[in-house]
Amino acid sequence: MSARKFFVGGNWKMNGDKESLGELFMTLNTASLDDETEVVCGAPSIYLDYARSKLDLRIGVAAQNCYKVPKGAFTGEISPAMIKDCGIDWVILGHSERRHVFGESDELIGQKVAHCLESDLCVIACIGEKLEEREAGTTDAVVFAQTKVIADNVKDWSHVVLAYEPVWAIGTGKTASPAQAQEVHEKLRGWLRANVSDAVADTIRIIYGGSVTAVNCKELAAQADVDGFLVGGASLKPEFVDIINARS
Ligand code: PGA
Repeated sequence: MSARKFFVGGNWKMNGDKESLGELFMTLNTASLDDETEVVCGAPSIYLDYARSKLDLRIGVAAQNCYKVPKGAFTGEISPAMIKDCGIDWVILGHSERRHVFGESDELIGQKVAHCLESDLCVIACIGEKLEEREAGTTDAVVFAQTKVIADNVKDWSHVVLAYEPVWAIGTGKTASPAQAQEVHEKLRGWLRANVSDAVADTIRIIYGGSVTAVNCKELAAQADVDGFLVGGASLKPEFVDIINARS
């Protein structure tokens, strides 16, 4: 367990402007951050360059999405090559808002995962069940199926973080309980052990997302299979520092 470096991602979504983000950069750059935590902030694409140029280099930056080919006639899209060109090493893929607001399919997400990894971009791959799926008892089937599509497109797992984000917990203030999060994370690790390898199951960071705050992060971080967080709303606030330091 301790071999996995704790990973805290922020996901600003479509929020912030130069002024408010500038204040956030000041907060993060001057904060005392746990060296044992890897930190990556997901910026809107128009602010990727701004974030990378202003944030301290101990803080990584991620794009929140990208397309599946290097270049071409795809108006409005950005490619992994462009993200890398801005000095950025990470991308969030398969976020539930991409899946459910913008209708991205498992197939498209899988293609993006493959192309990003081939382009040497690290991927935070998101999965998670909807409320009706949890209530119908299909959580395991849903997250295993989503994970399989990702797994089918990964050759180098060292560049992948898996984010379990139950859709009912995102932006709702309704966090999965530590036991609920641990149960799914443990099963996901078991799935990876059975379907990929022991080495991948032992080393991959499986992070939790969905209404993580400074108040609930410590108990979640204490779960054996919770290796960090993907934080939305709270990643825009000074409390993000407390979440980064959840294991300190
Ligand atoms: P939230 O969002 O922390 O605001 O619930 C999490 C996410 O969407 O990654």
